[in-house]
Amino acid sequence: MENAVKRIGVLTSGGDAPGMNAAVRSVVRSALYRGIECIGIRRGYNGLITGDIVRLDATSVTHIINRGGTILYTARSDEFRSLEGQKKAASVCKLLGLDGIVGIGGDGTFRGLVELSKQGVSVVGIPATIDNDIVCTDYTIGYDTAANTAVEAIDRLRDTMQSHERCSVVEVMGRNAGHLALYVGLAVGATAVLVPEKTYNFERDIVEKIRQARLNGTTHYMIVVAEGAGSAIEVGNRINETLGMDPRVTILGHIQRGGTPSARDRVMATRMGYHAVEALAEGKTNRVICAHAGSMVDIDIMEGLAMKKGLNEQQYAVLKAMTGIND
Ligand code: F6P
Repeated sequence: MENAVKRIGVLTSGGDAPGMNAAVRSVVRSALYRGIECIGIRRGYNGLITGDIVRLDATSVTHIINRGGTILYTARSDEFRSLEGQKKAASVCKLLGLDGIVGIGGDGTFRGLVELSKQGVSVVGIPATIDNDIVCTDYTIGYDTAANTAVEAIDRLRDTMQSHERCSVVEVMGRNAGHLALYVGLAVGATAVLVPEKTYNFERDIVEKIRQARLNGTTHYMIVVAEGAGSAIEVGNRINETLGMDPRVTILGHIQRGGTPSARDRVMATRMGYHAVEALAEGKTNRVICAHAGSMVDIDIMEGLAMKKGLNEQQYAVLKAMTGIND
């Protein structure tokens, strides 16, 4: 059967995530494998509006599988939020002869794809965000690397907290979601973890946990705060006022977004890139590639965006059992 899809575009948008480059590489190589040309669109949707493009061949994506960030640059485009911006982007797709766009990013990126598709462009999304808050997929590219980066940083903090017998309050990214903080909290054996999905009681969830740890003989404490659950600085101040301790506050911030992607992120990105191209080549549109029970599936973007993702309650139950108990 003749391949109707001749040329596609790929862009990265929103906050970068380790593994985005591996996804770009996979999209390019998977496209070439099917005889499809691939054009890189730089600077997210801004680049689609201005025609900021780069031809991508097999060699232009050599040795990027191991690199953090995104070679295509990324942006959060205000102009693309307007209908006028969306129409401009669609006409650039037409001018370039793009038969489809693969958008790599988070839910904002997917909402952008939906708008682009309304202008007649075929679109497929690949979930990439350290927050792991895309509802329809078990996994988002970047999560594993970001978690490991945070764990390594917190392990280092623990060394100095232990030596000085201090309390550490660490803020972990995740926007409005606590997936990353919960996972990291489990991995570092935190004294307490605050996540936005659970309303917390300072006395019960912080003071009492520190107290129990002290009664068990611990003299240093690790409190993990998801950025969406509140400010680590405020939590630190309250610990100081309530318990007379002098906590040290660390906001891990964008450190969690950089670095060499883990094996898991590289492989997931490579698999997702392959399936995104496959979906476009099969004439599908408005799809998002999702990891589901070990396989890759594609589902309708709107359906995916409409789903609600709660915290992993099993993980949270384990955390409840682990916290407050001396390591
Ligand atoms: O969505 C990824 C993320 O890193 C969030 O965890 C964080 O809240 C946000 O992006 C930070 O965005 P910016 O890079 O614009 O500061």
